[in-house]
Amino acid sequence: MCGIVGILGNSSAVPRMMDSLKRLEYRGYDSAGVATVAGGSLDRRRAPGKLSALGDVLASNPLEGNSGIGHTRWATHGEPTINNAHPHMTERVAIVHNGIIENFKALKDELKAAGINFEGDTDTEVVARLMTRYLDDGLPPRAAFQETLGRLEGAFALCVLVAGEDNLMFGAREGSPLVIGLGDGENYLGSDAMALAGLSNQLIYMEEGDWVELTRDQYQIYSAANEPVDRTVSFSQVAATMIDKGNHRHFMQKEIYEQPTVVAQALGRYLDPIGGVVKLPDLSFNLAAVPKITLVACGTSFYAAQVARYWIEQIARVPVDVDIASEFRYRDPVYADGGLAIFISQSGETMDTLSALRHAKAAGQHIASIVNVTGSTMARESDLVMPIHAGPEVGVASTKAFTCQLAVLAAFTIKLASAKGEIDDTQVADYVAELEHAPALMAKILNADQQIETIAQDIAGARDILFVGRGIYYPIAMEGALKLKEISYIHAEGYAAGELKHGPIALIDENVPVIGIAPKGGLSEKTVSNLQEIMARKGKVVLFSDDEVPPADMYAHVAMPTAGDLISPILYALPVQLLAYYAAVEKGTDVDMPRNLAKSVTVE
Ligand code: M6R
Repeated sequence: MCGIVGILGNSSAVPRMMDSLKRLEYRGYDSAGVATVAGGSLDRRRAPGKLSALGDVLASNPLEGNSGIGHTRWATHGEPTINNAHPHMTERVAIVHNGIIENFKALKDELKAAGINFEGDTDTEVVARLMTRYLDDGLPPRAAFQETLGRLEGAFALCVLVAGEDNLMFGAREGSPLVIGLGDGENYLGSDAMALAGLSNQLIYMEEGDWVELTRDQYQIYSAANEPVDRTVSFSQVAATMIDKGNHRHFMQKEIYEQPTVVAQALGRYLDPIGGVVKLPDLSFNLAAVPKITLVACGTSFYAAQVARYWIEQIARVPVDVDIASEFRYRDPVYADGGLAIFISQSGETMDTLSALRHAKAAGQHIASIVNVTGSTMARESDLVMPIHAGPEVGVASTKAFTCQLAVLAAFTIKLASAKGEIDDTQVADYVAELEHAPALMAKILNADQQIETIAQDIAGARDILFVGRGIYYPIAMEGALKLKEISYIHAEGYAAGELKHGPIALIDENVPVIGIAPKGGLSEKTVSNLQEIMARKGKVVLFSDDEVPPADMYAHVAMPTAGDLISPILYALPVQLLAYYAAVEKGTDVDMPRNLAKSVTVE
């Protein structure tokens, strides 16, 4: 949430910051701004709305300087107006911030009582005015920054420029991620590896409570106790070229259509098709002894967890709890001794999921994370990290991360079931072979997207749409509804098909399309009966199924390939993604940056 970049460079900072902010815009797009220090003077440009609006401002009113900080905002405190846009600046400092300063009200009251005026409503402006006060009191920049940090409560990543100091920048990390990038006679700060992709591939992930003083040639990191500390330099594999739409109209479209490739990539890291076995990273605990699994995640990652519950319970026969991360620790969960808690997150930075991870860790659970961003906080705080290898996901609506999460969770399930003695080597090899087949079937579905595009165009005018499925397809129904509502703004709900008659069927009339997800076998007959009940009430049913003889009188039937039970949920994720994508395109919404959302949710 909110993107930050800082450059202490040797050439004009603004074009480089704008390039970086373009890659960061997925983190928030309510407003954007940049500030530089040149010849000792601070100056800034800001604009509400998308980054392109800031580009227009800079075109008519350029900003000089080789040292700068930039920001894309997802609003927390204060509307997305120009006054609330970052950087927040006084005559002495310019600051960009990601996170929430929880005690900002008390600090603001204190500063106001001292006669200090504010121009906006943000919590960040408090930080700028507080540090200015310490500088006015005569503290040198480092001490003023340190004093300021000591007063802040909450979650924040900060990046600060100081007037009169063209070769100085401060950064701090407490709850929100911040990365240092090392260059040749230049140094940088950024929210993540994507921010720094065009600038540096030598990264240092700051740890909780760390702060840093940077010049072009040097950097010194300090711990929360203000002790100088060394942190590991890692090599980033995120290249600027990976964050490109290519020939696609939207990142979401690109990410949907690259799923056969990235799922194959992910499976390649976990499966040995020749030996017919699953390979997991080294474990510091005994999988066979795990008595219970807790799966925790948000949004789309939560639906991946729900699918995994069916797999783990049915194949490995291990009891599973699944929780929405924002609710998890507040229900005071009962953990099993020696239990394994798995946190699923594309970004690895979602605050709710991270807080849940820390709760489980404090309770002595073994901690595993399934993440896309391997340098993320969740990965760094886990005993076992299972990367999903999806490559950078830029579209706010998660697509390829979902199917890659499922691929990894399926591989994990096989390994667990084998460790538990629930399946023998032949069954393991059969499951491995089935999973290996998924990318080819995914490609087949995506090649037949024309029918789904037409259906999406037909239903895009609906006010409400329901998605229904049973068993393992119930979470796919919920994922379909989430995808549709977040990018097309059509109200949608996912229901267990059998639950409709307990209330939601009252919504059905000829104006409510219902999307049924019902592969042949298992509970499909029951789902189809539920769909018949909808059709009997004039509901417009679209069925995704491999059943060659679907019920008559349906509005549409999308023929799916027949596949094994393990990979079917992965395959059925695709048509619901396509439906949402094409409905949003038909409605003309901003597919990659839907209103009110941000990609990485680093506030509670
Ligand atoms: O990075 P995470 O997987 O932790 O993100 C979780 C959710 O915020 C995310 O899946 C969100 O629901 C997406 N916008 C869904 O498309």
